[in-house]
Amino acid sequence: MKVRVTEVGPRDGLQNESRILATETKVRFVDALSEAGYEEIEVSAFVSPERVPQLQDAEEVFQRIQRRGSTLYSALVPNERGLERALRAKVGKIAVFTAASETFNRKNVNASIAESIERFRPVVSAALEDSIPVRGYVSTAFWCPYEGKIAPERVVEVARELLELGVDEISIGDTIGKAVPSEVMALLDRLLDHVDQDRITMHFHDTYGTAIANVLTSYERGIASFDSSAGGVGGCPFAPGAAGNVATEDLIWALTRTGALLKPDLDRVRAASDLLASALGRPLRSRVREALSGAPSGAKEA
Ligand code: HMG
Ligand code: MG
Repeated sequence: MKVRVTEVGPRDGLQNESRILATETKVRFVDALSEAGYEEIEVSAFVSPERVPQLQDAEEVFQRIQRRGSTLYSALVPNERGLERALRAKVGKIAVFTAASETFNRKNVNASIAESIERFRPVVSAALEDSIPVRGYVSTAFWCPYEGKIAPERVVEVARELLELGVDEISIGDTIGKAVPSEVMALLDRLLDHVDQDRITMHFHDTYGTAIANVLTSYERGIASFDSSAGGVGGCPFAPGAAGNVATEDLIWALTRTGALLKPDLDRVRAASDLLASALGRPLRSRVREALSGAPSGAKEA
C-alpha cells in the first residue's frame, strides 16, 4: 500500500524548542527536507507571535524556501488573521486545529471547541474558494494532559464537524504521545464508520515509546497517511509532557520493511536531521538514526 508522509518537523518540531533558530537555518532545513521528496512539508504556523515566538518568521521562511513542484508546503492557521498572512505567503495548503478536550483547546487557542470551529468557518470557505486544500487537526484524541482519557465518541463528533465545514483531511493527534495500539484500534473502529479512510491521517507523538506500534496498527487498519518529524523533534508548548513526534526515519524504516511504499528518501531525511541536530546543538531522538550512524552499509537497507 502507498503511504503518504507529511513532514511536520519545521512546525511541530521547532515550535517546541527553547532555542529559536535563525530564519536562514530554518530555510536550509526545509530545503534539505525538500530534497528527500515528501508529498507535504508543514513549514510553519501563522499563529500569534507572542504565543509561539519560535515561528514568528513564518512569512520570511515561506518566501525564501525553494519549492519543489511535487511537494505541498503547508502551515497552521488558527483564524482569519492567520489566513490572510498565509495567503500572502502563498501557502500550498492550510491546517486548522482544534481538539477533543475542552481544557486543552482553551489553553492552546483560548477558545472552546465550538468557538474554534465557528472561527474556522470563514477560514475554510475562503481557502476552498481559492482552491487551497485544508486539513483539520483533532488534538488530544486519546489523552489530554488536563482531562485524562478522551472518549473516542468525542473525537468522532469533532472530526464530523470539521468535515461538515469542508476540510479535505482530518489529522488525529496523540498530542502527548500516550496512546497504545488497543486505544488506536478502538478509535479507528468508531472513526472509520463515519470518515473515509483516505481522509484520515494519524499524528503520533512518541513520549512513551509506542508511536511506531501505533503507526503499524493504523496501517493494518488501512490508514495510509502519517505525520512524522525528522529526528523525532516536536511537542506542543501548551501540552505539558508532550515529547517529540514519531521520527520520520523510524516511520520510513518500519513501514518500508512492512511492505509499504513511501516517497521520502531515508538517507536524505537523515541528512536534513544532521543539519537540524547541529543547529539545535543536541542529539535527536530516532532509533533508526542511532542504529544507522556508523553501521556498515549492508545494514542500512530499509
Ligand atoms: P487569542 O489568544 O484568543 O487572542 O488568540 P486574540 O485573538 O485576542 O489576539 C491576541 C493578539 O494576537 C492580538 O494582537 C492579535 O492581533 C494577535 P494585539 O492586538 O494584542 O497586538 N493575533 C495574531 N497575530 C498574528 N497572527 C495571527 C493572530 N491572531 C491573533 N493569526 C490564537 C487566539 C489562536 C491566535 C492564539 O491563542 C494562538 O496563536 N495560539 C497558538 C496555538 C499554537 O500554535 N499551538 C501549537 C500548535 S497546535 C499543536 O501543536 C498540536 C498539533 O501538533 C496536533 C497534535 O499534536 O495533537 C497540531
Ligand atoms: Mg503535534
